[in-house]
Amino acid sequence: MKQTIKSLSQMKTKGEKIAALTAYEALFAGFLDDSDIDFILVGDSAGMVFAGHETTVPVTMDEMVYHTRSVRRAVKNTLLVADLPFMSYQTSVEDALRNAGRLLKEGGAEAVKMEGGKRILEQVKACVDAGIPVMGHLGMTPQSVNQFGGFKTQGKKSNEAEKLKHDALALQRAGVFAIVLEKIPSELAKEISEELEIPTIGIGAGKDTDGQILVTQDMLGMYEKFKPKFVRLYARLAGEIKKAVGDYSKDVKDSRFPNKDESF
Ligand code: KIV
Repeated sequence: MKQTIKSLSQMKTKGEKIAALTAYEALFAGFLDDSDIDFILVGDSAGMVFAGHETTVPVTMDEMVYHTRSVRRAVKNTLLVADLPFMSYQTSVEDALRNAGRLLKEGGAEAVKMEGGKRILEQVKACVDAGIPVMGHLGMTPQSVNQFGGFKTQGKKSNEAEKLKHDALALQRAGVFAIVLEKIPSELAKEISEELEIPTIGIGAGKDTDGQILVTQDMLGMYEKFKPKFVRLYARLAGEIKKAVGDYSKDVKDSRFPNKDESF
């Protein structure tokens, strides 16, 4: 069955948990679309995991359009959400509309994600009014890493927690269909999830959000540079890949590859 923003909302009503993962290209996106995943995010984490940057800050609109188009070709049933990168929407309502429009028209996304609360409400409202579904993102929003002084847990102090709650309600009023809550205390994520009518999707926010998202390469044990405590390893593919590459290299050097069956 084709997933939509409406089906995610119904999942919250029915108390069913939402499972989401990221993809940046068609091969992995195809694996996710064949599995039981409720939405795929073309995350700007592509800047770190795919392109090798230290943060998501350098990611450009053209790169996000390229990744989203690549993912789109492999995705049939899963709802496809794409990140608006840093400075593609914070700058003005007009930029937000133009760039969100690009992700839908050129990339084939069905919704966009923006980081931030009150400071981006006008952008959120304008996109929603224009028919572009928007997912919010609060807490440790990676595009603000320089302001936070690192990828640190947010909302630990009571004034920060209050601000996050207000931001979540304001985003809901502005029309977002779901909110990602990243790296905040579990109790705060639980309170926000109970207060909101729209689904919350947690990453490092405990078990009481309405859904969970992880970076696919993190949970598959492929991205070794960065190991957040909230990631559970469902496979350890980095080791497998390095072993396979090493075995291949040795076979070539020892003239064991190719053999007769592998030759013409
Ligand atoms: O960029 C990303 O992959 C994300 C998720 C991890 C929430 O924003």
